[in-house]
Amino acid sequence: MCNSIISNWNEDELRELYQSIYNNNEAYEQLILSLKSYYKLRPLNLKKRDMEEEQWIQKRDTVGMMLYVDLFAGNLKKLAKKASYFKSLGITLVHLMPLLKPREGQNDGGYAVESYREIDPKLGNMDDFQKVIDAFHNSGIRVCIDFVMNHTAKEHEWAQKAVQGIKPYDEFYLMYDSDEIPRDYEQTVPQVFPKVSPGNFTYYQCYNKWIFTSFYEFQWDLNYANPLVFNAMAENMLYFTNIGIDLIRLDAIPFIWKQLGTNCRNLPNVHKLLRMLQIIVKMIAPSSAILGEAIVEPNEIVKYFGQDDKIECNLLYNASYMVDIWNAIATRDGRCLSHSVNRYVPKETCWINYARCHDDIGWGIEDNVLRGLGFDPYNHKQFLINFYNGSIQDSFARGRLYEFNPEDMDARNTGTLASLAGLEKAVYESDDYQKEIAINRIKLIHAIILLSKGVPMIYSGDEIGALNNYSYEHNSDKSHDSRWLHRGVFDWNKGISKDPIKSKVYEDTKQLIKLRKQFPIFDGKINQINMQLFNKHVFGFIRISEGSELKPVIALFNFSEENQLVGTYDIKQNQIYGIKTDLLQGKTINLDEETILLRPLEFLIMQ
Ligand code: GLC
Repeated sequence: MCNSIISNWNEDELRELYQSIYNNNEAYEQLILSLKSYYKLRPLNLKKRDMEEEQWIQKRDTVGMMLYVDLFAGNLKKLAKKASYFKSLGITLVHLMPLLKPREGQNDGGYAVESYREIDPKLGNMDDFQKVIDAFHNSGIRVCIDFVMNHTAKEHEWAQKAVQGIKPYDEFYLMYDSDEIPRDYEQTVPQVFPKVSPGNFTYYQCYNKWIFTSFYEFQWDLNYANPLVFNAMAENMLYFTNIGIDLIRLDAIPFIWKQLGTNCRNLPNVHKLLRMLQIIVKMIAPSSAILGEAIVEPNEIVKYFGQDDKIECNLLYNASYMVDIWNAIATRDGRCLSHSVNRYVPKETCWINYARCHDDIGWGIEDNVLRGLGFDPYNHKQFLINFYNGSIQDSFARGRLYEFNPEDMDARNTGTLASLAGLEKAVYESDDYQKEIAINRIKLIHAIILLSKGVPMIYSGDEIGALNNYSYEHNSDKSHDSRWLHRGVFDWNKGISKDPIKSKVYEDTKQLIKLRKQFPIFDGKINQINMQLFNKHVFGFIRISEGSELKPVIALFNFSEENQLVGTYDIKQNQIYGIKTDLLQGKTINLDEETILLRPLEFLIMQ
């Protein structure tokens, strides 16, 4: 069917995908009706935005920050007044961590949603939220929210009706009257939180039911094999694009399709569901985009972009690049980084480059890459875990373990960027030299995420070098989950400018953001070529646009605390010669000489 009102109408593909999964005309027609009504309801100012702003994720001007409303500002009313903070730092995209009404008590940092149409009353209400969106839009800031689609809180109205057997909700979740099927699933499905929430099912005596709970017991997995679940969640998503949300972060996407006998991760139908959501967003709210959260193996992550003409997620977290950065920081060896980013990503999609976020760091470096570089994968992972836990003697990092498994000693790590980069230890030991080194490390990390190909996403607090916050250890709702270590209250006390460390880190970050925005070579569509350098302590890349007038940029990052020489031959191999200027420090570098000197943790951005 062709629809003259909706210009991006793409029903043929949508129908085909939908019917290939559901084969249900009635449900499909219901979906189409609701799409039309959401299009009709879409405010005119947003329709205007739709015509003007489709390609914003590729722009160098897009610089993100993620934050918890309560930790950053207290509540939504106060957040609305913070637009000037983002503006002066240069942030143009703000990801607000879960803010929908969560269940009371433990709620996995808001990822257990009780109502998709209400705001967490501790933060405000929908009116307050609308004011934040409008205030941010007026300041040129886009808004991203979490859309938790794999599960709801067990208190959600659907869940409560489901356990009472009320139709059609009785088929909204994966519930079983006996443990036969759950036991079969447990044979093949790995556990997400083996320590804090073991198993994939929870048995409820009061309902005499086994319920699929991939994450915490209070998060019940939705049953996407039921078309009504897909329709209802698509409507919930459109509700948010229609109030002006520019970026929808789809939480935990690899998990949304379950199939007995499989590991229930990254299954083909997940990709179909995501493609359908992308089609729907582009039909009804084309200026909005989808960010997928898929923290899985590198080869699987990249598949969530889809293909050039069949995009699934517009943005994905570059989790391997993040892990490689931390690996390089600990080992002072940048070689792992050379292997990332170069993977092909479809046009009109981008990586999100980040160093820290609200979650832990899981050491997902491919074994063959490690072996190729001469590391034993198990021992190397153990080194990283202990380095960032701070338990290796020479470690400068202060972090905690997360999901430690005493059987194989496996774990992930938590901690803020600054604490993992050595600032906490240096401050504690009043070591001025180490403080300076740590501040340079933070700057180097931010330079990588801000100047690499993709959209940078800074984790709130990292721009002022926030240290770990240990208060969660005394809170019974949080003490089991060390991710709260890096979820501290933003420190507005005294003002950033009065604290020398904070203001230095802040000014460094601001300067890098300004640099990114100044040069078109940092646009998302411009290629990044990672160089294979002879000196392993240095990672380097070139941003280059073949066949255009744009001058390439050569970036070199020294991960070690010692001077390093880089042979210019490695650079000249890429047909780049002559005298270059460092865009931040202004110094001149002559590529006709044999080597370039980098001071401890120095980076050069040369053009
Ligand atoms: C995502 C979130 C994480 C949460 C999980 C379950 O991975 O980033 O914080 O625990 O989903 O919702």
